[in-house]
Amino acid sequence: MVDLKKAVESLHSAIYIKDFTTGEHSKRVSKLCHLIAKKLEYKSRILPIAGLLHDVGKIGISDEILNKFGRLSETEYHIIKRHSFLGSKVLEKIGNEELSKAVYRHHEKLDGSGYPLGVKADRIPFDSQIITVCDIFDAITSCRPYLERRDIVDVIEILTKEEKHKINQDIVESLVSIDLSDLILVIEPHCKKECNVDKLIGHNLNSLYHPKVREDFNHFYLGGYLVDNFNKDMEDYFKT
Ligand SMILES: [Fe+2]
Repeated sequence: MVDLKKAVESLHSAIYIKDFTTGEHSKRVSKLCHLIAKKLEYKSRILPIAGLLHDVGKIGISDEILNKFGRLSETEYHIIKRHSFLGSKVLEKIGNEELSKAVYRHHEKLDGSGYPLGVKADRIPFDSQIITVCDIFDAITSCRPYLERRDIVDVIEILTKEEKHKINQDIVESLVSIDLSDLILVIEPHCKKECNVDKLIGHNLNSLYHPKVREDFNHFYLGGYLVDNFNKDMEDYFKT
């Protein structure tokens, strides 16, 4: 009989050993999944675990491809896309079919444009749909070797406009409604000590359209990374 908790911890350590960045990303996705499920009052036995292990199949992808600086070639992209299948195979061994299926379909899109199967909404488990939203959110707001970290406001635009027909908008709405004081602790757990998180209570991602809240959030959330850009934006604004 497999001890699920031990198996999950062991696999998550394996992800960390393979690639620290993916280990951290997985932890954040799992926490975001949990917050969204709470907002939606959605009860799932496997969601935070599936969030934590959604990229476990990346253990089977070479470091050269996983950490490549710059765009992937078509062949490399094809190889990296195998990670959802590989992950589901690993999780099949634990004997939890729901978990394996949620991971297998975490890159499927509602309109059928995802992978590996290209199935549409009705064949994508709700757990996978939540992971997809959290995965995109975290990927765009994190530092990656091949793309620049994006402003949090850009992320809302991507989720609600560019990805509108591809990802579940009820889930996006829940993400957007999470209190920034909770969200920041998922992304930057050290903020609890260093930042005045209380300042963010009562605000959500929509509040970031307000320049003052956006300035505070970018300062805390991105560790000052965007503050210079923000100030530059403001300078340009005052010039016009
Ligand atoms: Fe993935």
